[in-house]
Amino acid sequence: TAVSGGGNVLLPGLVDLHVHLREPGREDAETIASGSAAAAAGGFTAVFAMPNTDPVADTALVCDHVWRRGREVGLVDVHPVGAVTVGQKGERLAEMGIMAAGEAQVRVFSDDGFCVSDPLVMRRALEYASGLGALIAQHAEDPRLTCGACAHEGPTAARLGLAGWPRSAEESIIARDAILARDADARVHICHVSTAGSVSVLRWAKEQGIAITAEVTPHHLLLDDSRLEDYDPVFKVNPPLREESDVAVLRRALAEGVIDAVATDHAPHAAHDKDREFALARPGMLGLETALPIVLETMWRPGLLDWRGVARTMSENPAKIAGLADQGRPIEVGEPANLVVVDPDFEWTVRGKELTSIADNTPFEGMRLRGRAVATVLRGRVTARDGRAEL
Ligand code: NCD
Ligand code: ZN
Ligand code: ZN
Repeated sequence: TAVSGGGNVLLPGLVDLHVHLREPGREDAETIASGSAAAAAGGFTAVFAMPNTDPVADTALVCDHVWRRGREVGLVDVHPVGAVTVGQKGERLAEMGIMAAGEAQVRVFSDDGFCVSDPLVMRRALEYASGLGALIAQHAEDPRLTCGACAHEGPTAARLGLAGWPRSAEESIIARDAILARDADARVHICHVSTAGSVSVLRWAKEQGIAITAEVTPHHLLLDDSRLEDYDPVFKVNPPLREESDVAVLRRALAEGVIDAVATDHAPHAAHDKDREFALARPGMLGLETALPIVLETMWRPGLLDWRGVARTMSENPAKIAGLADQGRPIEVGEPANLVVVDPDFEWTVRGKELTSIADNTPFEGMRLRGRAVATVLRGRVTARDGRAEL
């Protein structure tokens, strides 16, 4: 799939299983138009938009609106992720079947931002999804183990006084959901895996033949909790940045296939929600326009992934996990192609203000990165050149 020539490399269009585009409801942070432009600029041809919007995407009405708006913008395929429970309140299952039957043909469901934490609700959600041939993407965080206000854990966090989201809250949900998926004959996908323990649980579950997949974000592949020393709210994220040793384990797990995919968890926030005291700032970071160079830096340059591996983890596997037939695979002759041309040597400095996203909460501000999408092509049409969408 990866063909090298003249220094540039051709990959299938990148597929992002996890973005927050904030429309409807928070268009001051991002819109489907601005988020699509950011995605195209970053080399993506398909993204999955999480349902924690306002209103929540828990009906076919909202899902189909997101899908149609994505088509109108036309820069990237925007696949709405439907909510698992009504209003993401975790109590009553949403009508996943009706969302699946709508124009958007929703096949991925999640309460991301929240965990489907009640075990009975999760069991029934998996059974329902299994019947639909759909996937539940779980934000693995047991709220009964998490201290509400903050989002950090570990020696650095403890010294800084940031009580928060312990490893147990993530790892116990992954173990539980693996077993529930096994018995429901369902597929489950784990969002933004962040700890070494989660990797052990995933490895065990896969060895049992359980249909579980997982993603890791670029920021968890690069950053650790030493960034929190200055209480800079830009580094506040769910799940929190972990320790250096976790970062090493996550990289190895992605190289070995225990973690299947890279997903950005692109989480734009308006300045008045993000640039405030650490405890009050919203969690989340921009990701779409920096994902590719971060993966090159953390995985490709150290030799953990070759180009084939980059294509597999950023395009083929996410397309397979979400059941997309027309993404993440080699191009047939004469076919309107989804692809990206990558210049791995192009050097640039990240400036939040210069990114395409409306929000500017990048954790890589001022960082010198190598690598950029020099052209993104969606069904034969150029959607971005040199890091800028073709509007
Ligand atoms: C996400 C958001 O802002 O919607 N925030 C985050 O820190 N990742 C929600 C989520 O992915 O959990
Ligand atoms: Zn989440
Ligand atoms: Zn998210």
